[in-house]
Amino acid sequence: MTSSKVWTHKGTFLLAAVGSAVGLGNLWRFPYLAGENGGGAFILIYALTIAMVGIPILIAETLIGRNSRRSPIMGMAHLTRTHGASSAWRVIGWMGAAAAFIILSFYSVIAGWAVHYTGLMFSGSLAGASAETISGSFDTLLGSPGLLLAYHSVFILVSGLIVGMGIHKGIEGGLRFMMPALFLILVIVLGYGLVVGDAAAAFSFLFTFNFDDLSLEGWLEAMGQSFFTLSLGMGAIMAYGAYMSSEASLTRTAFWIAAVDTLIALMAGLAIFAIVFGSGLEAGQGPGLMFVTLPIAFAGLPGGAILGGVFFVLVIGAALTSAISLIEPVAAWLVERFSMSRPAAVALMVVLCWALGLVTVLSFNLWSEGTLTHELFGKSPFDVLEFITNILMPLGGLLIALFAGWTLSRNEVLREMNTSEGWFKLWQFLVRFVAPTAVAFVFLRTIPQVEG
Ligand code: PHE
Ligand code: NA
Repeated sequence: MTSSKVWTHKGTFLLAAVGSAVGLGNLWRFPYLAGENGGGAFILIYALTIAMVGIPILIAETLIGRNSRRSPIMGMAHLTRTHGASSAWRVIGWMGAAAAFIILSFYSVIAGWAVHYTGLMFSGSLAGASAETISGSFDTLLGSPGLLLAYHSVFILVSGLIVGMGIHKGIEGGLRFMMPALFLILVIVLGYGLVVGDAAAAFSFLFTFNFDDLSLEGWLEAMGQSFFTLSLGMGAIMAYGAYMSSEASLTRTAFWIAAVDTLIALMAGLAIFAIVFGSGLEAGQGPGLMFVTLPIAFAGLPGGAILGGVFFVLVIGAALTSAISLIEPVAAWLVERFSMSRPAAVALMVVLCWALGLVTVLSFNLWSEGTLTHELFGKSPFDVLEFITNILMPLGGLLIALFAGWTLSRNEVLREMNTSEGWFKLWQFLVRFVAPTAVAFVFLRTIPQVEG
């Protein structure tokens, strides 16, 4: 069954894909990874990977989605059938659905932390508090399964409501309102950070390329992040691509998605590090950068409670627009395959993800040690879930690159891409050879982690 649905405007796919791309990956993960890996050199590798691997795969994934005009699972089945390709390629659709499912389950829990901090900030309860009190409050949050579960439930419910309202009213309507608002908030927070914080230190941290700071681990981390940040390799972009106007340019759109995503990560990094350095704090705090270091900094700054609250609203909004892109591929498949109504399909996906989210919730408290996964892999159950997605996303990206590069016919790709021979050749070279090699390197990082 072909879905005849298309986004309302030629540019809506760009808006939706940027909504998917810009999320916790930009605001939370990018700054802390840059902080841990020495700043500038990390960012250089990250930008190179985005350009040479991310954009070509982004084009490939969008192309597959638009060409099939179906949800990722049905689309891959359709394309392998019509191209006489091995049905093994269908694993792309299934792996993507599995990845979307797992990512949403923990993404929602982490977004829930931002809900908690929005409350803490606006209520002024952190204003002037000591560093110990603030980091203690993070530990208290993580130690409370009930609180984590409540935030997780609210966040995933709201995401589900938006997707349940359909691609036009729900997703497009939500994005058209949220994206400009989020950008405005980011500009305000950045302006504040540059004025009250230490802008010079933040600039030199992010843009001084000191390669001695960068380990091989950092290299691989940068490449992995470039997949996560562009929402690649798991069907979200493919599902949105299925609704993309045939008139919109694949290459130009992919370029803009990557450019805006990178710009936003850099703006967030500048804002956060200006505020953190301005308060005399350290950059390399890991995942606690946003939830401990930054609140400590806000607590001591003029207007910090309000601006801190506004900042966490931005985090929630950005996470929401990504979460809806994680629901869409699976929900669209349930609708196509089992003729379910959209609300029922979304409800099913959301309830199951919510339940899997319990694993993440408990991993920070009751299951923080002594579980089966600790015994087998030396990791918490949450770390195992994250590890699985760290494999599924690059692997999905690799297969998408190979499928688009080797299996789709040249004429078909040229027709979809509607670009010059030169750009086509460059793209083909990148997806056939460069992207697969790069992904192999990403695995160098993930595979040894099995031993913990
Ligand atoms: N790109 C999102 C971010 O940066 C995360 C994401 C990954 C969203 C995969 C959808 C699919 O936060
Ligand atoms: Na991102």
